[in-house]
Amino acid sequence: RQGGSQSRAEEMVCRVEWLIPSFLLFDLDPDLLPLFQYNCKQFASPQECLSAPEFLDHIRKVMLVIDAAVSHLENLSCLEEYLCNLGKKHQAVGVKVESFSTVGESLLYMLEKCLGAAFSPEVQEAWSKLYNAVVKAMQRGWETLPEGD
Ligand code: HEM
Repeated sequence: RQGGSQSRAEEMVCRVEWLIPSFLLFDLDPDLLPLFQYNCKQFASPQECLSAPEFLDHIRKVMLVIDAAVSHLENLSCLEEYLCNLGKKHQAVGVKVESFSTVGESLLYMLEKCLGAAFSPEVQEAWSKLYNAVVKAMQRGWETLPEGD
């Protein structure tokens, strides 16, 4: 366990600009590009999107959600309603539930780059569990789930 009051997610929010070029998202799923639109303007290329301040803002938003989840680890249910609504917003934007796995993969890759040797299998597992819990809560906001359960 390492000291320091700054959480990992906060640290990443500060460093994330450095990692954008390695952000795999649009390599893994080019169909996500048209979903990021600001003022009805579509990005012509992943490069353009990755360097847009609005996109960086969205990454910060993602990290803040993760950070909130980390701080409420013992009691994720208090974020339930917020996450459910967040899911609804994403469905409205046109995001598919499966896309969150792609985002998860990209984030995992970023974390690996960010943490280097500190990215132990335990950290990876803890991270995946947390991310999956967040995504599951967001998915509850979907009106029709692909495999209803
Ligand atoms: C599948 C990939 C995703 C796409 C295409 C996507 C797209 C968007 C878009 C277009 C917006 C509205 C504009 C903006 O605020 O930038 C938005 C808002 C937001 N997204 Fe995402 N998003 C994705 C994944 C995620 C994930 C995984 C999280 C968090 C775990 C997240 C958290 C947020 C938050 C907090 C907002 C602001 C909502 C608000 O204004 O109330 N997004 N997203």
